[in-house]
Amino acid sequence: MNIDNKVILITGASSGIGRATALMMAGHNNRLVIVARRENLLREVSAKIRDQGSECLYFAGDAMDEQFGEYVVRKTVEAYGGIDIAIMVVGIGPPSNTLTASSEKIKFCMDANFDTFINFYVPIMRQMKTQKTECMISHVNSLASFFGVPMQGDYVAAKGGVRLFLDTARMELKHFGYKNIHIQTIHPSFVDTEAVRNDGIPAPGEISEEKSAEYIIKGIKKNTKRNMFPFTPALLTRLSVRVFTDWLITKVELSQTPKNY
Ligand SMILES: NC(=O)c1ccc[n+]([C@@H]2O[C@H](COP(=O)([O-])OP(=O)(O)OC[C@H]3O[C@@H](n4cnc5c(N)ncnc54)[C@H](OP(=O)(O)O)[C@@H]3O)[C@@H](O)[C@H]2O)c1
Repeated sequence: MNIDNKVILITGASSGIGRATALMMAGHNNRLVIVARRENLLREVSAKIRDQGSECLYFAGDAMDEQFGEYVVRKTVEAYGGIDIAIMVVGIGPPSNTLTASSEKIKFCMDANFDTFINFYVPIMRQMKTQKTECMISHVNSLASFFGVPMQGDYVAAKGGVRLFLDTARMELKHFGYKNIHIQTIHPSFVDTEAVRNDGIPAPGEISEEKSAEYIIKGIKKNTKRNMFPFTPALLTRLSVRVFTDWLITKVELSQTPKNY
């Protein structure tokens, strides 16, 4: 998809991958709508976006709140007439242990990754179905959504859930004749953001936020269904899904896992 002169809604744009992507989109004469809870950070990001020549609206609120998703989409359409590209970045992945975590902790992590996505997806999809022009829903998922990962059970379950939900949405768009709406899942490996810097989860081959934004924008331009990066972890993930045995995956993953967490 072309990324110039578009209305682009980005959730989770106050920091990390979402922020870097919003700033990189700002140089393309876009109308950006950015969302997160920390209003002070959104204000700073929006000023940087305007400095680069794009328009920007920001909305501070909790994506766990269904009404907030509805509100942001309604306000975006009122201001800009529609949404061309929605990049859903909101998510958290704190270390977790499937043997000891409370149900409250597990459900919180899953809601923070799944519900925060659905609360925006539903009004965005409703809006895009009224549009005739090309548009895209893109979700920042993870390479970790393809298999079990020690220390990340609730996280990978939620990300895997969104991936399957969107695979289904893509089929149903085709079935019901919405050829103009594209669905994309974005699967980074490890990205060096403040959120994960000291979380104790091993992160071999980490890339920068800016590099991940470059990959994301390249994938949107190419309209790939699954944007998996960088090359080596993406290849290993593809092989894991198709070729490697559970025995090998478990051995490799446990070799990276701390003894106590
Ligand atoms: N870093 C990695 O290694 C990595 C790898 C693969 C995938 N990912 C995925 O990439 C995404 C971004 O991660 P990141 O590392 O860039 O972390 P981050 O800087 O913490 O970004 C998360 C963003 O989501 C927002 N957010 C979180 N919960 C929210 C809520 N309830 N309501 C509204 N906004 C909320 C945060 O803003 P506020 O706190 O201001 O609300 C922030 O802007 C996540 O979905 C993550 O799973 C990250």
